[in-house]
Amino acid sequence: MRQRLLQYLTCPACGGSLELSGVTAGDGSHVLEGELNCGNCEARFPITRGIPRFAALEKLDADKAATAANFGWQWQHFTQEDQRYADQFLGWISPVTPEFFNEKIVLEGGCGKGRHTQLVAAWGAKEVIGVDLSAAVETAFAATRGLDNAHIIQADIYHLPIQKKIDYAFSVGVLHHLPDAHRGFLSLASKVKPGGHLSAWVYGAEANEWITGLVSPMRERLTSRIHPRALLHLSRLPTALVYLATKLIYRPLNRVAGGAVGRHLFYNDYLMAISGFGWKEQHTIVFDHLVAPTAHYIPGREFEQWWRDIEATEVSIQWHNKNSWRGFGRV
Ligand SMILES: C[S@@+](CC[C@H](N)C(=O)[O-])C[C@H]1O[C@@H](n2cnc3c(N)ncnc32)[C@H](O)[C@@H]1O
Repeated sequence: MRQRLLQYLTCPACGGSLELSGVTAGDGSHVLEGELNCGNCEARFPITRGIPRFAALEKLDADKAATAANFGWQWQHFTQEDQRYADQFLGWISPVTPEFFNEKIVLEGGCGKGRHTQLVAAWGAKEVIGVDLSAAVETAFAATRGLDNAHIIQADIYHLPIQKKIDYAFSVGVLHHLPDAHRGFLSLASKVKPGGHLSAWVYGAEANEWITGLVSPMRERLTSRIHPRALLHLSRLPTALVYLATKLIYRPLNRVAGGAVGRHLFYNDYLMAISGFGWKEQHTIVFDHLVAPTAHYIPGREFEQWWRDIEATEVSIQWHNKNSWRGFGRV
């Protein structure tokens, strides 16, 4: 943890200010081992391996703990980087562009392995704070440790230890994995200062009936319950089908007659969006769809209501890849 991060932190229990103490290890840039103490309620939060820890995993509800365990494993295994992440990320947060980040204080709700925290830091944010509940923070910290404007925190998105000083908050692929997605959205929005901006990307209910009808029951009863290492092997078969379909059918047919043929293929927009990725990334995507104990598919009407609930203005809500919703607005 860089000491500068303290000015954005607050006690998640009472909102009091935090003080650093008991530092026993550092590397010149980061406090590696130490403690954050609340001056008001006397809560204490350890800093271990460079990361402030605000979530005691053993005290979480069973569903959140299972989600954190599975995603923690996922992002400690799938640590690869890919040049296509930037375009994919910009697709999820459109109409935001790299220039938008210049000199902003940015919060990422559910940073996973830190791939977007890295991009935001490189695009000129003043500070970017990536928050995740799971052990993915270990990968995210390693990936961002050398970036002077990047910070990683382990915390629950429902109880963010962050002051209302954020210029722009975003969450990509996280809210739909919470027990209550709307509550996560409200919590994230509550950290944005007046006039700041917010982005969220979630799975859509529309056009995903085949997933909720066929894949979700299998995910809930089987694939999210087996050990992730077993799922790693099991998921190679559906990955092979997706990989062969995208490379041998979708890409070639989308080149015929200006895309007139491809347009009629099942789930074409989404499969084309991931068709440029190699095996490892497609395996990550398939694994990601099978590993989560909780996944909600959000109807567009409900997503629109979220933005009305926070009284956001200049709201832009778009149907992305014909299977998901992305939203952006001023808070
Ligand atoms: C599908 S991953 C997406 C990660 C990242 N946004 C990305 O696109 O690479 C979902 C992430 O949400 C995190 N997560 C789940 N529940 C959370 C919670 N209650 N608070 C914070 N993060 C949470 C998981 O640990 C996981 O890293």
